[in-house]
Formats: sequence, C-alpha cells, structure tokens
Amino acid sequence: MSAPIALKCLRCGTLYATDHQGSGCTKCTGALASNLRVCYGPADVGRWNFRKADTALRGMQRFGDMLPVQSEHWVSLGEGDTPLHATTRLASYLGVEKLYIKDESSNPTNSHKDRVSAVAVAYAKQIGAPVVATASSGNAGASLAAYAARAGLPCVVASMKGAAGPMVAQIRKLGAHLILMEDKTLRWPLLAEAAQRYGWFITSPYSAPVVGSTPIGIEGYKTIAYEIYQDLGRVPDWLALPVCYGDALAGIHQGFLDLKITGQTDRVPRYIAAEAHGSLQRAMAANADQVDSLPAAYATLAASVGGPQSAYQALLALRQSNGIAIRIGNEGLVELQERVGAIEGLNFELASVMPFAAVRQLRNEGVIASGDLVVCLATASGLKDLDKSTSDWAEIPISSQPQEEVLEAAVAAVKRIALKFSNIEDETSPQMDLASSSNA
Ligand SMILES: Cc1ncc(COP(=O)(O)O)c(C=O)c1O
Ligand SMILES: [Zn+2]
Repeated sequence: MSAPIALKCLRCGTLYATDHQGSGCTKCTGALASNLRVCYGPADVGRWNFRKADTALRGMQRFGDMLPVQSEHWVSLGEGDTPLHATTRLASYLGVEKLYIKDESSNPTNSHKDRVSAVAVAYAKQIGAPVVATASSGNAGASLAAYAARAGLPCVVASMKGAAGPMVAQIRKLGAHLILMEDKTLRWPLLAEAAQRYGWFITSPYSAPVVGSTPIGIEGYKTIAYEIYQDLGRVPDWLALPVCYGDALAGIHQGFLDLKITGQTDRVPRYIAAEAHGSLQRAMAANADQVDSLPAAYATLAASVGGPQSAYQALLALRQSNGIAIRIGNEGLVELQERVGAIEGLNFELASVMPFAAVRQLRNEGVIASGDLVVCLATASGLKDLDKSTSDWAEIPISSQPQEEVLEAAVAAVKRIALKFSNIEDETSPQMDLASSSNA
C-alpha cells in the first residue's frame, strides 16, 4: 500500500487533503471543472516494484504497493489479471498486423468497473465509511453492489427512469438499494447530501458538469496499464478504448505515467478515445481547454457511453499522449460486434466494440500504420446489455421437422461462417458491408 498524501487538481495543481469532500476541484468550476488525482510521497513511489513476482498474490493485489489500500482491507472477488488476447483474424480484418484485445469482460461482474469498485470499497472500509453509493444506470452500479456485498457494506445505487432492465436486475440481485430518479441529474444533489449528512462514500461523479469518478477509485484503472506492459513487455503504440467521462482513460494514463516516472518505460501509448457524441473530438479540433456538452444527436445503442459530454481528465490524457478522439455512431456496430464474436469467440458489449470501429477507421485513413502495435480495451461483456434493440433473434425461422431444407440451409451457413474466418464476404450473406478496411 502507498498512503495518499494529497489530492491534486489535474488542471490547476491545487492540493487538497485526502478527505476532501466534493466531486472535483473547488477552484476550477463551470466549464473549466476538473477532477483530482491521488498523490503519493516520494518514499512510497521509490519503493514501487512493477515486476514483483509474488505468487501469493493474484490479480490487482499484485500491484497493491501502487494502490491506496492497506492489505487487510482489500476486498476481492478475483478482479484483474484479465487476458490480453492476440488476434489474427480480427487483426487482418481491421488491417493491422499486431492487434491485441485486453479483455475486461473476464472481471468478476464482467466489466472493467470492478477495478474501481475493488479499490473504492476497500478504501471506504479503511476510512470507516458506513455506506458506498454511486449514480449509475449500468456496469458501475452492478460492480459496486457486488464489492459492497463482499465487504459487508450497504450499497445505494441512484439510477434513473428508463435504465436498461438487465442492468437494473444485476444491481438488484447483488443486494443494493436502488433509487430510480425521473432525471439523471437529480441523482447528484441527492448523493452530495448523503455524503455531507451521513458520510457515505460516493464513488461516481456527483456534480455538474461532470469531472469524473472518485480519484481513489480511478487508481484501480492504473493496473490495466501495468498488466498490458507486463504481458507485452513493452508499451503499445496505440491503446483504443470506449470513453464517456474518461475515468478509465485517466487511470490507465496515470498507470503508464507511473511506469515512466519510475524509469520502466520512456513513453506512454497514443490513446484513441472512441466516443458516442464527439465532445472530445470537438475540443481536440478546436484546441480548446475545456470539454463542452454536445446535443445528443441520436440515441446511441452503446448506452454505457451515451453521455453527450466527456471531461477534462480525458482531454488531458489525449493531449499528453498525442492521442485522438473519434466519434463512433450506431452504424455497423451490431454487425461488428457479431463479427468479433464469430471470428474470435469473444462477445462484447456494444460500447466495447467501438474501439475496433475506431481502429478500422484510423487504419483506413492511414493514421495507424499496418505494423503498429495496437491494443483495444474491451470494457464489458456482451451479456451485460442483451436487449431487443441490439439483437434480431426474431428473424430466425422455426423448423418443425428435420427436413432436407434445414440441413441444406445449415450447410450453406457453415460455408458463410468459414468465409468469415478468412475475412472474405459471401454475396449471399445477410451481413452488411463491413469489408471496407484493407491492408493497403
Ligand atoms: C462498458 C463501458 N465501457 C466504457 C465506459 C466508459 O467509462 P469512462 O467514464 O471511464 O469513460 C463505461 C462507463 O460506464 C462502460 O460501462
Ligand atoms: Zn483546479
């Protein structure tokens, strides 16, 4: 464990005590709102050992030295040490030679949010908080509910009208108290009041404009960078990930900075932020120092990243890494999801498919070179958002007898599947034309 000595504003550098209440810096306000990050003392940082081969520890706990949690308070469900899959078929479909998938769906509640929850819940236990709470309509809520239950801490999830049924079911089955608000912004004053009045530890953002989640929890995302670095033995050229408020991006960036600061590496990857509405893309293009909200021009199928405004923490990571923000809409997303499933055996949530679409587009534009080493962060399992709007099971005909036609149709389908393995499109296939990427 390293003991946090302060929280520091990412924008203005103001230092706050580690028990600072509130979501973000109190000096950087309005459009300039900014999150804080955790600072450690030089003696702790000097002891950090990324190559520790301590076989008694597993998953994220291997990196306990770099996290703000005492080992006796650790709350584990088996998070971290997620696979880094090397791909060949998907790599060639996207037009790159070296494509890896960091598969966060294999975390205990099937999303990367478990990295935040593990650290945040342990920290809440450590400081004696009576309750953990979050504003979430999906993966973060289910994850926090699970870790709180494991820790024996009550959990409150403030969600909203219209939250996806399967997501809400996961939160409830894991024992959290669920509040449904008419409007999503109404959740924040409620949580702010609970923090002030009852000392609840709030893990999500809880003020507008959103700056990001608790910096303590974001520390958990550093371990994604450490694991990628250990598995590859190097820093990738590109790391593509789905981005909403940029918690994962900010935390992973801090992880690579840790590796750099301690002399393990001399650079960080260039990040590719795949976003639904384009607020980061606009801020980058305008060379702006703030991320303004964009009207949500369409209803994104990738509901987990549906917010129309990202946050300064994401912009900063993109700037510091010479990164790129790219808007990925609904078009072709379900087909790409099903293709990844069909050719790699991996079923990801639609938000997690956005990085693949981004890589394909940037490769086509020649921004990514064919020999670059690319890692895509797949943040959650496809089982998390099983929804009628994202599947079309209704079109499968029902067969009443084992007739000749059924077998013939299966033989034809097998041919189509085999063609997909070699990235060749069959004209009779009902798939949309996704073969626009090439090795050129
Ligand atoms: C599956 C999935 N991917 C990506 C994100 C983006 O999160 P961030 O706020 O870290 O950008 C979320 C957030 O809810 C998510 O649930
Ligand atoms: Zn500030």
